[in-house]
Amino acid sequence: MSEAAEAAAVLVDRPEEPVLRATLNRPEAMNALSMPAREALADFARRVDTETGIRVGIITGGPTVFAAGADIKAMVDARPMALHRRGIHRLWQAIAECRKPLIAAVNGYALGGGCELAMHCDLIVAGTGARFGLPEVKVGIMPGAGGTQRLIRAVGKHRALRLLLTGEPIDAPTAADWGLVTDLVHDDAVMETALSLAGTIARRPPLAVEHIKEVALAGADLPLSAGLMLERKSMHLLFDTADQTEGMTAFLDKRRPDFRGE
Ligand code: HXC
Repeated sequence: MSEAAEAAAVLVDRPEEPVLRATLNRPEAMNALSMPAREALADFARRVDTETGIRVGIITGGPTVFAAGADIKAMVDARPMALHRRGIHRLWQAIAECRKPLIAAVNGYALGGGCELAMHCDLIVAGTGARFGLPEVKVGIMPGAGGTQRLIRAVGKHRALRLLLTGEPIDAPTAADWGLVTDLVHDDAVMETALSLAGTIARRPPLAVEHIKEVALAGADLPLSAGLMLERKSMHLLFDTADQTEGMTAFLDKRRPDFRGE
């Protein structure tokens, strides 16, 4: 594939002023995650993280398929040290470290690395026709981007191991029932719902949103006492923001707050 075509493995646009959206664009390979696609997703996450005007990121594969996993064609002959040198974990890390909320908008298959990509996001909006799975075991390997770790935290041991050990996908209503999906909607309403959620979050005070995300995610891996302390300290810290004054004053004045992220 030409460099120009590969550069378009992910399309980035701004559907609303405070929202940046990444759309995987490899329909010929069911949006399988090639290296250029992974690099573009990492760049996207860094942009969401650092650009002041952007308050939420949306990752989607478009209306047909989210992503069918890592690109098997690029992996079939790989040796361990070649995988090590690719340093793919650093690209995933950029997504995991994004301080602002990320929403996965999922239609169709979210398999393997595609499912892991959705699980890197904070909210998952899925169409009823979506399917989630970790089929790595069927091609002789295992998940390598948090599938064994994030799924078990999201749905619990017994359900996670069903997906991990059989490699068989579950449908979106089951994924929603298991707690993997935030909003289950008609296939045609996935992006509209993701944009609506993004819009709601974008109207909230950005510094509070960032701290809530950070503390909720960090706390999930901490003893309760440490998580509670972190929460308390971060809550106190927010009393140093102009948005705290604005939020509480607006409430008392019975008007809409105007949060500026200050
Ligand atoms: C490369 C892929 C691909 C993938 C699909 N394609 N998935 N190419 N990597 N992960 C390509 C097919 O080769 C085919 O190309 C085209 O997309 C259409 O796919 P079909 O199989 O013909 O479509 P369909 O019958 O509808 O089946 C859809 C599917 C199936 C169920 C999603 O494609 C599938 O099972 N894909 C593999 C899913 C998987 O195993 N993912 C995990 C990968 S490992 P051609 O050229 O033939 O038209 C992983 C973790 C790695 O993600 C972590 C360690 C580094």
